This record gives sequence, C-alpha cells and structure tokens, in this order.
Amino acid sequence: MEMSGFSTIIPLAYLASAVLFILGIKRLSHPETAAGGNRLAAIGMLLAVIATLLESGLDYTWIIVGVAVGGLIGAVMARTVKMTAMPEMVAVFNGFGGAASGLVAVGEYLRVAGSAGGAETLAIDSGVSIMAGTLIGAVTFSGSMIAFGKLQGFVTGNAISNPLVKFSAGILLGFAVVLAVYLVGFESNLVFYWSLIAAALILGVLFVIPIGGADMPVVVALLNSYSGLAAASAGFVLENNALIISGALVGASGLILTGIMCRAMNRSLANVLFSAFGTTAATAGRAADGDRVATPIEAEDSAMVLGYASQVIFVPGYGLAVAQAQHRVRELADLLTERGVSVRYCVHPVAGRMPGHMNVLLAEANVPYEQLCEPEDVNPDMENIDVAVVVGANDVVNPLARDDPSSPIGGMPIIETDRAKTCIVIKRSLSVGYAGIDNPLFYLRNNRMFFGDASDALASITEEVKQL
Ligand code: TAP
Repeated sequence: MEMSGFSTIIPLAYLASAVLFILGIKRLSHPETAAGGNRLAAIGMLLAVIATLLESGLDYTWIIVGVAVGGLIGAVMARTVKMTAMPEMVAVFNGFGGAASGLVAVGEYLRVAGSAGGAETLAIDSGVSIMAGTLIGAVTFSGSMIAFGKLQGFVTGNAISNPLVKFSAGILLGFAVVLAVYLVGFESNLVFYWSLIAAALILGVLFVIPIGGADMPVVVALLNSYSGLAAASAGFVLENNALIISGALVGASGLILTGIMCRAMNRSLANVLFSAFGTTAATAGRAADGDRVATPIEAEDSAMVLGYASQVIFVPGYGLAVAQAQHRVRELADLLTERGVSVRYCVHPVAGRMPGHMNVLLAEANVPYEQLCEPEDVNPDMENIDVAVVVGANDVVNPLARDDPSSPIGGMPIIETDRAKTCIVIKRSLSVGYAGIDNPLFYLRNNRMFFGDASDALASITEEVKQL
C-alpha cells in the first residue's frame, strides 16, 4: 500500500495502539482496573483509526457513509439492548466482525486475481492469508447468525442434531480446504472461489446448528475467537500490523475465555461442540416433584433470619439480571453490614447468560470488590454460613451437579448453598433453570422458598430489616 509523508509516523502509531491494546487487556483482568483498561484500549483504537485515515489514496466519501450508518446502528443497538439480551448482541457483533474481515479478503482476491477471472496466480503468502480470511470470516459470519437465532429462540437444532450433520460438515471442510489449496497453488478461478465462500457459509451453519441452547454462550466465545483470527488474516492481507496484533489478541482471549467457561461447567470443548447438551435436558427432572414439599418464607421471617445472622452470602443468578435487582441486593447487604453482619457475594463463573454477567451487574450497583468471592472461597466453609440467599439462581446451586454424575449438569462445580445452615431461594416459582432440570435444593429441610420477583422480594425484606 502506498504511503504519504506520514510513512514513518503511521507504523509508530500502529505500534503504540497495539501496546495500548495489550495494556488494556491486561487491566481488564481485574474489576478494579477494568474501566481504566477499557479506556486505554479505546484510546488505542482511536489512534489506529486516525493512523488508517492518514494513509494516502483513501476514498473518504465511503468511509464517512460507513461511519455514519454503522455508528448510528451501533449507537441505537447499544442504547436499546437489554442486559439479558447481551449474548445475542455479542453474537451479532462477532458475525459482523467475521463478515468484515472476510470481505477484506474477498476484495483483495478480486483485486489481485482480476475480477474477470484473469489467469493471475497468487503469491503464496498473500494467497494463504486471503484464503484463511475468506474461510474463517465466512464460517464466523454464518455460525454467529445461527448462534444469534438460537439465543433468540427462532432457530432450534434438535431435529437435525444427528451424526449426518457432523459427517457433512467434515466432507464440506475437506472440500473447502482442497479449493483453498488449489486457489493458492494454481491460477485464479472465480467459480472455485465463490464455491469456497458458499462451502464456508454452510460449514458455519452446520458447525453451530447441532449445539444445544445451554452451550450457546460457550459457542459465542469460540466464535469471538474465530472473529479475531479472521481479523488477523485481514491484517496479513492488508499488511497492517495493528490489525494482526489486535486480531491475535481477540483470537487468544476468546480461546482462553472458552476454556474458562468449559472448566466452570466441568465439560471439555469437544463435549460442548459434539454433544447436544441443553436440547434434550429441558424435559428431564420435573417428574420427580411428586410429594416433596418446598417450604415457603415471607419477608418478615426472612428479615429475622438475616438480621440476626453473623455470616451471610448472596448468590446472584440469571433471575437477578431479569429483575434488575442489583441495586436492591446491594441495599439489603449494606443494611445488614451496618448491623454488623459479615456479608459477601458469591459469584459463579457461569451464573447468568454471559461471562462476567453477574460481575457487571454488581459493579453497576457499586458493590465493594472486597465483598465479592468465588465458589472455591466459600464452599469449604459453607457449614459456618448462617444464611445463603440465592437471588434468581438455579443451576449454579443445584446439588444434582455434585450428587448425580448422570445429570445433564453432572460434574459442574456449584455453590453448595444446600450445606449452609439456612438457605433462602428467591425466585418466582419452582420452575427449572436454563439446563431444564429439577433442583432438589428447593425441598431440603434447611431451605426456604421466597416466591416472587427478585427485586420486589429484596425490597420487602429490606423494609422488614429496617423495622428490627
Ligand atoms: P438459571 O439456572 O438459568 O436459573 C435462573 C432462575 O431465575 C430461573 O429458574 C427463574 O425461576 C429465575 N428467575 C427468572 N426471572 C426472575 C425474576 N424476575 N425474579 C426472580 N427469579 C427469576 O440461572 P443460573 O443459576 O444463573 O445459571 C446459569 C445457567 O446458564 C447455567 O445452566 C449455566 O451453565 C448456563 N450457561 C451460562 C453461561 C454463562 S457464560 N453465564 C454459559 C453457558 C451456559 P422462576 O421462573 O421460577 O422465577
């Protein structure tokens, strides 16, 4: 790419932006430094955008149109999206990221090979980058759109999650790789190239469609990693170091996040990708309710138990996000702390519907970081916890995960609130959580059910604690 008088400043600006990305990501690893890290990365992105705009030979008209249209759509989506719909939004963003990188590769192929199907042969290095960018970008795009559809509930894969899908995907992957190798090694061929794109798009669909709904957040994290690889490939195509580095960072962090989520559910990535967890599970478990009785509790008694406790933990789950009860839980926790109760919030890594879901909500309510803890901090000492208050959580406190290896969530580490002296579960009914299975915790002697919306329930308990 031709450079103007800025030829020395631009690479330095790209380098500085890459350093800012790395420092930003480093700081994102702790809640206290995360906001600063986000700002550093944003400055890095601004620097990279300015450096790109200073390159010569650009058509600013299309850039301005793109920024205006994209910026408007992005701003509206960011303002209107509900916190509970964030995974869908991330899935769409990943898809568009993959599509953008793939289109860079397509544009470059058409430029180098000649749009009339000329007999040019690609240089090996740019050829490999273009094919990788095309393949990964197209798979990421179609896979993310299916993930979005599944999270929204208008794509269901149950009917087609059979071995034939996996076999077809294998054949298609082989076909796509053969085409890509041909297109790099031999003269250009537009029919082969469009066939490669079509194969990659179908591959993305086949890859995601058999995966169960409960595993979709893991798939979204994996697709996020793919979108990073697609961006890195686009960086090689454009010979842009900032794009290569930022794409590699997204690729690596997406993969690490995928690993963390799999570990938190005690599942291997292969198990997530190739077993349809969460599709058949929805029917399991409920029949066992029979004559078991769940004991209800009201606000007044809950306040008595909590107000005179010495150690309390709150366990937030997806229902806290639905009810937007983060401020209410903080209010109650503060009141208890003022009364001399030791209060902590125990956050399960896969509580909610996306990584860090609960941490984001609790941070929004300015919950002090020192009150946050993880299951392994609390479980060994659970017998000494006077009251565990489960706020809209279900699967992450389900003892079946520990006691029944054959359960769909068997082996998933849980927060063992069933071992606390008293457990109070706040939710609207006895209905199942995301994995679709019954929860024996609700029927234990030391458990009480507070039926109602999490926000209203916490508000009424808070009022009663004030009266103590
Ligand atoms: P869930 O098991 O999904 O249970 C949430 C509970 O919240 C429901 O049982 C529901 O019961 C209750 N609820 C809904 N709205 C409510 C409201 N307004 N007020 C009070 N309660 C309300 O949640 P969890 O324990 O957080 O577990 C998360 C699940 O998602 C796990 O299965 C996990 O594996 C899966 N998952 C999460 C992730 C990430 S990254 N977070 C990734 C993969 C899978 P009622 O209808 O009776 O109120």
